[in-house]
Amino acid sequence: MSSIHEGLQGHDITHIQNFNLASGAYRLVWLGIEDVPCMVALQDRTGCTSIVPRTVDYYYTHLFTGQGALGIRDSAGTLVAQALVKNEDDTSLLQNVLVDPQHRGQKLSSHLIMQWLDLVKESGISFAQARVRIDNHSSLHNFLACGMDITQTIPSPEDSRHLVHVMSKVMKEGYRPL
Ligand SMILES: CC(C)(COP(=O)(O)OP(=O)(O)OC[C@H]1O[C@@H](n2cnc3c(N)ncnc32)[C@H](O)[C@@H]1OP(=O)(O)O)[C@@H](O)C(=O)NCCC(=O)NCCS
Repeated sequence: MSSIHEGLQGHDITHIQNFNLASGAYRLVWLGIEDVPCMVALQDRTGCTSIVPRTVDYYYTHLFTGQGALGIRDSAGTLVAQALVKNEDDTSLLQNVLVDPQHRGQKLSSHLIMQWLDLVKESGISFAQARVRIDNHSSLHNFLACGMDITQTIPSPEDSRHLVHVMSKVMKEGYRPL
């Protein structure tokens, strides 16, 4: 299955879920090509010391090639959290998880990770993975709390100066990762 969208519905949906936190109402959505300027703006707002920043072209290519991106909008419609979803060979990889500094500390990233795992399960994809730099304790804590395990520690494939924990979760019973 090449796309979580296809696995879920077989047709285009953008809105996934509304939810409320003490700070207000939020909406989880699929992001599209028209959202790239907002995604780049959010990436710029985060400062990006713990991730490899993506270029505008990277975002466009990711979306044009059928891969996905999940976003969380606040009640004013501003994009306040995002992550890229890359599906390959029965594995879904979550990358580039970012939360707006003004909206941190409310577990928005955990919400996004849990929703991604639910969508992966629903779509029949067998394996979920993410990579977290070993010194990114908040993010590591969140992936562990969402039921993912550290299965490897390797130099980052995107920036070999940094070691990353590979976080994994088997989503389909009986699946044995290579
Ligand atoms: C890592 C990140 C995604 C976590 O987002 P989040 O949804 O705010 O996560 P949490 O709500 O769990 O808060 C993270 C930590 O910040 C603390 N925090 C609380 N209020 C905060 C605030 N106003 N601003 C910043 N951090 C705050 C929380 O207490 C929590 O600490 P803990 O891990 O010791 O419990 C976010 O900090 C971020 O975008 N960082 C930059 C990019 C990045 O590292 N991405 C992850 C790549 S794998």
